[in-house]
Amino acid sequence: MRALITGGAGQLGTDLMALLGDDARAYTHDELDIASDADVQRAFAETRPDVVINCAAFHNLDVCEREPANAFAINVQAVQRLALQGVPLVHVSTNYVFDGRRPEPYGEDDLPAPRSIYAISKLAGEFAALAYGRGALVVRTAGLYGLSGNASKGGNFVQRMLARARAGTPLSVVEDQTLAPTYTPDLAAAIVEAIQANVTGVLHLTASGVCSWHQFTLSIMSHAGLDVEVTPSRTVVGPGGIDRPLNGVLARPRADALGLTPLRSWDSALEAYMNDAGLAAAGDH
Ligand SMILES: NC(=O)c1ccc[n+]([C@@H]2O[C@H](COP(=O)([O-])OP(=O)(O)OC[C@H]3O[C@@H](n4cnc5c(N)ncnc54)[C@H](OP(=O)(O)O)[C@@H]3O)[C@@H](O)[C@H]2O)c1
Repeated sequence: MRALITGGAGQLGTDLMALLGDDARAYTHDELDIASDADVQRAFAETRPDVVINCAAFHNLDVCEREPANAFAINVQAVQRLALQGVPLVHVSTNYVFDGRRPEPYGEDDLPAPRSIYAISKLAGEFAALAYGRGALVVRTAGLYGLSGNASKGGNFVQRMLARARAGTPLSVVEDQTLAPTYTPDLAAAIVEAIQANVTGVLHLTASGVCSWHQFTLSIMSHAGLDVEVTPSRTVVGPGGIDRPLNGVLARPRADALGLTPLRSWDSALEAYMNDAGLAAAGDH
């Protein structure tokens, strides 16, 4: 299997590349802009892939609200362009396609109801992959963090919280948004397993278990050995503000029915990340 990976310098792209090695060619944004037809044609001609894994996205939520045309160009039209190349496409999407208003986790067959330009564009991108691609796989995931960081957001959530704590900035984190934050090497392995099993359609792949962003932050501070106060707060969406799902938890009845391996728990994965990234307190192994 030869894979072409877009967004290859991002969190997930880096870990997919690390896993697939010689079986993949990862393109950074500079090397391949998925919004450029010429770039896409050249990359496909160079790589002649058996599968394309699209990790590229326009996913700064605030910028998406201000620049909807760019959000749709990259998260929808460019996905259609990739799907039309006639090579099976794996497209990465998000738990934000659900409104998060109900208490139960959302399964693969539940009805999406996106609440922001980012989420609307990601859902439309799913349809573009499934409608225009032959045998496309859409993988919805949540709260990604990885060793490569996340440049467009000033580092991943863990790095941002640790930086604020070390700078003495008071930490106030929402306790009413729940999810399963997911470590990108775990997601990369789960995606490769799904590709090898020839799965198509929609799959939910996140870490196991559930936490709030507040609980996640407490766990980060605990693994880092930092004794700082983390104040729980409630979500407030002002006029024109971003409406993030309160319940961002994805269930995976379809992934389970297909016999795919569950990802480890969010807390075990966080501990592994803290160790891998050299962020854990001495003795926290
Ligand atoms: N991060 C999360 O918490 C999260 C949660 C759920 C789902 N997802 C989805 O998971 C996927 C991977 O996310 P990630 O966290 O790995 O993102 P990431 O670290 O930001 O990586 C995305 C990469 O895509 C590149 N990119 C942006 N626009 C591009 C374009 N037009 N052509 C080619 N490359 C482009 C970015 O380059 P530049 O930085 O140079 O622009 C970046 O290297 C995305 O589809 C995202 O929507 C993410």
